[in-house]
Amino acid sequence: MKGIILAGGSGTRLSPLTKVTSKQLLPIYNKPMIFYPLATLMRGGITEVLIITAPDRAGDFLRLLGSGREMGAKFTYEIQDKPEGIAQAFIIGENFIGEDSVALILGDNIFEDDFSEQIKAFKSGGHVFAKKVPDPERFGVVTFNESGVAGRIVEKPKEHVSDYAVTGLYLYDNRVVSIAKNLAPSPRGELEITDVNNVYLEKGELTVSTVAGAWLDAGTFDSLLAANLLIAKQEGSRVLS
Ligand code: TTP
Repeated sequence: MKGIILAGGSGTRLSPLTKVTSKQLLPIYNKPMIFYPLATLMRGGITEVLIITAPDRAGDFLRLLGSGREMGAKFTYEIQDKPEGIAQAFIIGENFIGEDSVALILGDNIFEDDFSEQIKAFKSGGHVFAKKVPDPERFGVVTFNESGVAGRIVEKPKEHVSDYAVTGLYLYDNRVVSIAKNLAPSPRGELEITDVNNVYLEKGELTVSTVAGAWLDAGTFDSLLAANLLIAKQEGSRVLS
C-alpha cells in the first residue's frame, strides 16, 4: 500500500500564522505538524509516500523531508495548484499510485492510535476511521445501524444525524482513482472525499472502525493549541508538570 499526505489548502482559519508558512509546517511541540501524519503512515508499514503541497510551499517541504532515505522511506512530491478538494489527491497522485491501494492522510491530522493492524489487514474496498465528537456539524459524519454497520455519510450536516466524524485517514483500493475522476465538484467547488466514501458505501464495500485515542485536526487556533498540549504532555514537557 502506498501513502499520500495531503498538505496543501489555504489555512485561512490560522491566518496570520499561515501567511508565512504552511499550516502543516507549524510546530506541534518539538516537530513540524506533518511529522505526525507521516509517522501514522510509517507505523503502518507504508514507506512510499507522496506529499502534495500548495505551489508556493513545495520547497519548504522538500528542505524539511528530502528524499526520505534517512528515515528508510521514499518521498515523492506533487503540487496542487488550487485547493479543489481532498479527493483531487487521487487524480494528482494517479501515476504515483500506479496499480496499488492507497492510504490518504490529511497533513493536519494528529492521531494517538496505532493503525498498523488495519493498514496491514486492508484488502479491498474502502476503510475509514470514525471518532465521536462534540461538534459533528463541522465534519463528514457517519451513521451506524444497531449491528454497527455504516449507514450513510453526510458532509457537514445542519441537523444532527450522528456524533461520529469521519477522520482524516482513508484507505482505498485502486478503484479510487477512477472514482475520483468521475466525481462532479460539489456546490462549494470541491471534489469531496465524502462522495468517494458514498460510492464505496453504495457498493457495500466501505468498512468503518472507530478511533479509540485522541484525534485532532489542527486547523484552528484551539485545536492547534490542544495538539501542542497533547504532544508536550506525551513528551514529558516540564512546563506541564
Ligand atoms: P481544511 O482544513 O478543510 O482546509 P484548509 O487547510 O485550506 O484550511 P481553512 O479552512 O482554514 O482555509 O483542509 C483539511 C486538510 O486538507 C488540510 O491539511 C489541507 C488539506 N487540503 C488540501 O491540501 N487541498 C484541498 O483541496 C483541501 C480541501 C484540503
